Amino acid sequence: MKQKILFIFGTRPEAIKMAPLIKEFQKHPDELETKICVTAQHRQMLDQVLDLFDIKPDFDLDIMEEGQSLLQLTSRVFSGLEKIFSETKPDWVLVQGDTSTVMAAGVAAFYAGIKVGHVEAGLRSHNRYAPFPEEINRRIASVVADAHFAPTETARQALLAEGIDGKTIYVTGNTVIDALLWVRDKVKQNPPEIAGSLKEKILNKKIVLVTGHRRESFGEGFEQICLALRDIAEQNKDVVVIYPVHFNPNVREPVNRILNGHENILLIEPLSYTDFVWLMDKSYLILTDSGGVQEEAPSLGKPILVMREVTERMEGIEAGTAKLVGTDRNKIVSETSRLFTDKLEYERMSKAINPYGDGKASEKIRNIIVSK
Ligand code: UD1
Ligand code: UDP
Repeated sequence: MKQKILFIFGTRPEAIKMAPLIKEFQKHPDELETKICVTAQHRQMLDQVLDLFDIKPDFDLDIMEEGQSLLQLTSRVFSGLEKIFSETKPDWVLVQGDTSTVMAAGVAAFYAGIKVGHVEAGLRSHNRYAPFPEEINRRIASVVADAHFAPTETARQALLAEGIDGKTIYVTGNTVIDALLWVRDKVKQNPPEIAGSLKEKILNKKIVLVTGHRRESFGEGFEQICLALRDIAEQNKDVVVIYPVHFNPNVREPVNRILNGHENILLIEPLSYTDFVWLMDKSYLILTDSGGVQEEAPSLGKPILVMREVTERMEGIEAGTAKLVGTDRNKIVSETSRLFTDKLEYERMSKAINPYGDGKASEKIRNIIVSK
């Protein structure tokens, strides 16, 4: 019987990771009726991805507000979904990852008696406050989900350890690799516009690419990160630090205050996924607290210093391509400097590996849903 699927997502990373899955589902209209609801927990950063993948939502809750609190945004997701569920009556709701959109949409679907498929299930830092609130969001998603699409065997084991029925867990790889490979091929054939606009600024420079937005680092953590970036730029004149700054006002304030106007630091607006993949590929190394970037960088053979105290993406650390450096200024500076001077260490961390997927996760997930 043809199944009706409602995709629900709201932020940039969810959109990037859902896009290949939506495309895959839409290729099979005989088996699957696909509906798309965006909460728009993010606005501009979500729309950038929808444009790139040419995805047209059937429903848009448009909930984002400047400087939104967790409670405000979560309650807007809950109240927006009731009408959509009663209009669409889906067999499955599919959610991805660990944002508040995922947690609320998963619980809302469960309340409405709709089956929940959780994409990127089983990631755990085992610390309820880091990343905050994502560790608890994804645990809640696991409790309400009927099918768990785990990216790796480690994720499957984490779900089993929490008593989830093994028959409902499927190791599929992470759909982010499907998206990454598609975009990487696209930019190889056709370098994006940013290649031209950055040409002069990056000529003969080593690019240190930076992203950062985690809530648990707001305040002191971000001050330390920014001071470290300033030290790195001051101590290494052959380096350009490029930081597409997340729109969250708690990020923008310290970043602009501490780093604006610095000679070899480029603060830019969040990039389209195409531009960002191109820039990752051109980088010498990446400093980040992002989940998605931790998954993408090893595929591109880029060393990555993770500006967090803990991570749920241990596969990259274990493979030796990523290292946890926390938010301590001295540690960030010393580990970055080491990668400029210690060639062996740099080579060791630059291995191109794919611990998170093979680019076929979307197809695997579609086959599983169709067989249900
Ligand atoms: C959210 C997710 C986080 C995810 C991250 C990806 C939660 C609680 N947090 O964090 O898990 O890793 O997205 O980036 O679910 N803003 C804009 N335009 C945008 C996006 C954000 O202006 O396109 C600003 C708004 O002022 C908004 C604020 O950023 O209120 C925070 O957005 P929000 O989604 O609450 O938190 P993020 O830090 O983006
Ligand atoms: N990304 C992007 N433009 C940028 C910065 C990041 O497209 O300017 C992509 C990145 O490649 C990854 C995703 O956004 O796929 C990560 O999003 P984010 O760091 O906001 O969220 P997280 O992964 O930490 O949840």
